[in-house]
Amino acid sequence: MPGAGREELERIRIETTNWDATEYRDAGCGQLTGDWADRTVRLAGWVHRRRDLGGVLFVHLRDRSGLVQLSFGPDWTTAPAAEIAASLSPEDVIQVEGRVVQRPESAINPEMKTGEIEVLVSDIEVLSGSDPLPILVAVPPEEDLPSEELRLRHRVLDLRRPEMLRNFEIRHRATRAARAALSDMGFIEVETPFLTRRTPEGARDYLVPSRLHPGEFYALPQSPQLYKQLLMTAGFDRYFQIARCLRDEDLRADRQPEFTQIDVEMAFVGEEDVYAACERMLQRVFAEALSEDIATPFSRLTWSEALESYGTDKPDLRIPWKLVDFSAALTGIGFGIFDAALEAGGRVRGFVAPGGAVLSRSALDKLDEIARAAGARGVLWTKRTADGYSGPVAKVLGGSAGEALARQFELAEGDLVLLVAGLDRETSPPLDAVRRAVATELDAVGATSAWLWVTEFPLFDADPETGRPTPSHHPFTMPRETSPERLREEPLAVESRAYDLVLDGTELASGSIRCHDAEMQRAILEVLGMSELEIESRFGFLLEAFRYGVPPHGGFALGMDRLAAMMVGAESIREVIAFPKTTAARGLMEGAPSAVDAAELADLGLRPA
Ligand code: AMO
Repeated sequence: MPGAGREELERIRIETTNWDATEYRDAGCGQLTGDWADRTVRLAGWVHRRRDLGGVLFVHLRDRSGLVQLSFGPDWTTAPAAEIAASLSPEDVIQVEGRVVQRPESAINPEMKTGEIEVLVSDIEVLSGSDPLPILVAVPPEEDLPSEELRLRHRVLDLRRPEMLRNFEIRHRATRAARAALSDMGFIEVETPFLTRRTPEGARDYLVPSRLHPGEFYALPQSPQLYKQLLMTAGFDRYFQIARCLRDEDLRADRQPEFTQIDVEMAFVGEEDVYAACERMLQRVFAEALSEDIATPFSRLTWSEALESYGTDKPDLRIPWKLVDFSAALTGIGFGIFDAALEAGGRVRGFVAPGGAVLSRSALDKLDEIARAAGARGVLWTKRTADGYSGPVAKVLGGSAGEALARQFELAEGDLVLLVAGLDRETSPPLDAVRRAVATELDAVGATSAWLWVTEFPLFDADPETGRPTPSHHPFTMPRETSPERLREEPLAVESRAYDLVLDGTELASGSIRCHDAEMQRAILEVLGMSELEIESRFGFLLEAFRYGVPPHGGFALGMDRLAAMMVGAESIREVIAFPKTTAARGLMEGAPSAVDAAELADLGLRPA
């Protein structure tokens, strides 16, 4: 995963800090270098840490630009100032005046960007005092952070931590670079409505009651999908928006109810044009935000190749092992589970983890749990040892079957083979989960980040409960080479022109070449079970616009929060969102959602007056 190392973050910080003097200060704390020596400066910021060495008092003063050491001593600090300094608390906001001096060689702190100098303070004023802190801002490096609940409840203090401020600097630089890259490629930024009609993206809508039209609701946009297509129809040609999207869905580490997309649409394009624009944008984002070169063009896999070789549509290609079909080698050799799977129309699939025989029994048991959690009845394994095979499958691998297996799959001593038998749709998720877990356990995840376009998704998936077609991407995607008639006849067999961008196993972006043919669009909506009346009432405005000349078009939306989280090396997108919701969709700091009184509800027509 790309991620800014500490040094890089410091460098980013130096580059971004070039603040002009203001009424309260001459420079940012982190801006002071040896060049400032012998100058008198005014600084302002928060008391980060205080150390009293008896006689001399050191304070680390902090603002967003960094930390600087202030020192208070009888020879250079006035008596009233020394008294104030002695009573400072962490997070007091102070303003100081003092002289910048070069530190003696022995006192230089290479860990601190401003470690060459310190400021001998003559005068100090407390601009705003701090109460005792519910959570620390200056968390010592060896100490764990408070629980996430506490961090979110006291988010203002949590955000003050230099690591958090850095996340937001990088995110800002990434957004700025994306904007610049797209602008330079001829895209224009256009805002689209927040109070809108439902646009299906697969989640529930947040609804806003209309006061002026009791009983009617606006929907908050799950994405600007239809608006950007209408902008293409309007001749805008190349549009983008750093767009907020709102979806009422179950949350996870990489999902929030409101999130940000870099939303892009282009007219007169095919897939290759969209990939090239997205890659160029990302190259600039990584170059400008992290000074990192990313190699383009990105790899490609079709959706079916991805599922066959990795069991998922978002494979982590940093892990070198591919899934293989062991059916021919392992059926008919006397292992009932394998034969039963084959008879039921399934396969025996798995992968070889080179050197995996070192995994202990308990590590293998853990893999079994992982496979079960992903829907399998378990994962079977066998180790290739000096004496043949070991493990649950070993008993049928004693003779020629075992030799053939070793030959066909080039098994070496010390290798581990992991196997799941069943229908592909049942074996893919556990194999994907087990593959990732084994790679982590064996430290086999490569260091170079792996960008991948997954292409040619099916147009529809079968709903697991009803078997009915549901959009695999969204209903505005162009099918691949088909007619409205064939689409109606055999919808589940139709491929689409949708694609996803995957980075190290995370889906970062998603897009498609759109359906710009009104008849085909109607057929898609019909296959989804919509009546003519429903199509007219929900999407009539789109279909009408398509009657007056619509350019072929396509685009993508890239999850900005996910991108930023990966760039800073964070586990959760909450680390790059200033005021995120919990996984229970609550804002713990401000207390959202909250109850509304009856009179307000009546005003909105939601309750009788
Ligand atoms: P999709 O729904 O796949 O496509 O979303 C695109 C990208 O947005 C990010 N994303 C999210 N990030 C955080 N929290 C969420 N709840 C969340 N949901 C999605 C992901 C995802 O890849 N209109 C289409 C795009 C298009 O066809 O142009 C769309 O929104 O990174």
